[in-house]
Amino acid sequence: MPVEVAAHAGFCMGVSRAVEKAEAMATDGIPSCTLGELIHNPEVIRRLAERGLEPIGDPSEAHGRRVLIRSHGVSPQVLEELKAAGNEVLDLTCPFVDKLHRIVEEGSRDGTPVILVGERDHPEVRGTAGWAHGEVMIVASPDEAEQLPEMEQAVVVCQTTFPHSKWQDILTVLETKVKNPDCRCTICNATEIRQKEAGELAARMDAMIVVGGRNSANTRKLYDICRSACPRTILVESAAEIPPAFANKDSEKIGITAGASTPTDSLKEVVTRMSDMENKDLTPTTEVEANND
Ligand code: F3S
Repeated sequence: MPVEVAAHAGFCMGVSRAVEKAEAMATDGIPSCTLGELIHNPEVIRRLAERGLEPIGDPSEAHGRRVLIRSHGVSPQVLEELKAAGNEVLDLTCPFVDKLHRIVEEGSRDGTPVILVGERDHPEVRGTAGWAHGEVMIVASPDEAEQLPEMEQAVVVCQTTFPHSKWQDILTVLETKVKNPDCRCTICNATEIRQKEAGELAARMDAMIVVGGRNSANTRKLYDICRSACPRTILVESAAEIPPAFANKDSEKIGITAGASTPTDSLKEVVTRMSDMENKDLTPTTEVEANND
């Protein structure tokens, strides 16, 4: 049962930087918290909370503590609110998200509207919308783009973790709506590389395992991409969730990838578990259900 791991899997640069800093903060004795969960991974959040670095849901809950801003970033209004209340702010917004904020802020200074392609409720999208000086229209699909009115000009940007093919489909519609669009592809390389590699790997494999938090948007996207190329794809948060009969033939090729917020330890655990299975009797006892939604 050959096991192959995607070359780029697990923590991306932005998440790795935020987690390293948070780990250091959790032990320096200064009362601190994170605004929102640092990453979409329950295991990492639990570990940090045990050491006193708990997530808060709203700036008003900081109560004078040092506040870590996660890689998703926040709006300038939230930064202001935290500082005005006397909280020290440690801004660990990912540099790619920071660049997106700057494009939106600078491009909208003269009142040009912004079309933000992304998921309306995603924290990065909510935070980014706050950097615009004027109107912001959020669209997540070609159908939603169809609903926009015709306009002279707009700055068009994208959530950093948005799928590239969907961005292209939406752009095709926007070209019919906006006379002079200023389109900037702000999808980060880490996402693109992970999605492309996952799709290519899944197409060559008999089964795929995607490791990551179920509430992580980028992990879910990897799962969707892998599933469309390889129907026997499962998403697991830890090695313990892999069904015992998942690898049911010695000859099966198993691919493994992991979301950008998946710790290296969780990925390693899954790889070890599959390698252990390789050395055992793999006769299936039940049919494995590929869809774990
Ligand atoms: Fe940053 Fe891209 Fe990761 S935007 S947080 S490097 S997925």
